[in-house]
Amino acid sequence: MATRIVTLPGDGIGPEILAPAVDLLKRFVPDVTIEEHVFGGASIDAHGTALTDDTLAACRAADGVLLAAVGGPKWDTTDASKPRPEQGLLGLRKGMGLYANLRPVRPLPALYDASPLRREIIDGTDLLVVRELTGGIYFGEKTRTETTASDLCAYSAEEIERIARSAFEAARTKVTSVDKANVLETSRLWRQVVVDLHQREFSHIPLEHVLVDNAAMQLVSNPTSFDVIVTENLFGDILSDEAAMLTGSIGMLPSASLGAGGPGLFEPVHGSAPDIAGQGIANPLAMFLSTALLLRHGLNLESEATSLESAVDKALDQGLRTRDLGGTASTAEATEAVLAALG
Ligand code: IPM
Ligand code: MG
Repeated sequence: MATRIVTLPGDGIGPEILAPAVDLLKRFVPDVTIEEHVFGGASIDAHGTALTDDTLAACRAADGVLLAAVGGPKWDTTDASKPRPEQGLLGLRKGMGLYANLRPVRPLPALYDASPLRREIIDGTDLLVVRELTGGIYFGEKTRTETTASDLCAYSAEEIERIARSAFEAARTKVTSVDKANVLETSRLWRQVVVDLHQREFSHIPLEHVLVDNAAMQLVSNPTSFDVIVTENLFGDILSDEAAMLTGSIGMLPSASLGAGGPGLFEPVHGSAPDIAGQGIANPLAMFLSTALLLRHGLNLESEATSLESAVDKALDQGLRTRDLGGTASTAEATEAVLAALG
């Protein structure tokens, strides 16, 4: 049966970076069928909601979902009654049960000088942020009056255990569990569940606990000390943007969001960059690397995933630099460079 991929271009630079990624995907999976849906702000404009039931159903029925980016000033509002593009993203993650968000961070030697950090600090960094994606403060009850507001952070032991399991399974040398157990009750449960699972099933893997503020510091002072970082939704959101800068630009970081068995969602960590949308200058590499993660985790095509990643590495080695990396290459030139490197 043909492979069915749902594509969600979203907003801003989304359509510009997704189109060449789909071309790349077709080179690796010639029989792929692509079903495109409007999403985020574009869906608000077309249907009044960031994620329609139809789109969610199509995503759940696909073999994988490739998403570019959502959001933009047009839909920015502090009015809780108005739809927001990000609701589409959160609804999709929740609706597809994508609790495990994998954000690999592997700075390339060719880009060491594009990072704000010194070469000797980033040299050898190869870490994975495993972010819990369907719980915590993102999805807890929200209240709002004229003068007060609250967001509830809640976690169940079951939610913690399944993300901890993803982290232990992905670990090569160590798992660092990041929490705020000196202050938060959810973090104390988190720590207890991680320790219990570790003792029961993964005691051969070194486990450490680091408080989130300290983890933020170590990420920039000693990033090579990390292998797998597992953490709750909000901490993972913040730490993964920080970790992205180790690679020189947030335009380089892909992510895979996986659930229990169903299709995964593959998207860059960066946003829709409305300030440069429509100019053809966006860096498409995180989108290409997310396509590689679709090949690997979504379609079980490991060698194809590796070839695409190697082509990106090679293009950068040969001097490809988009503007965010201090160069002048356009999206089209970046795509050509990766295609040329694929041979
Ligand atoms: C991310 C983004 C989203 C998040 C936003 C757009 C809702 O920052 O994927 O990291 O906070 O999860
Ligand atoms: Mg984020």
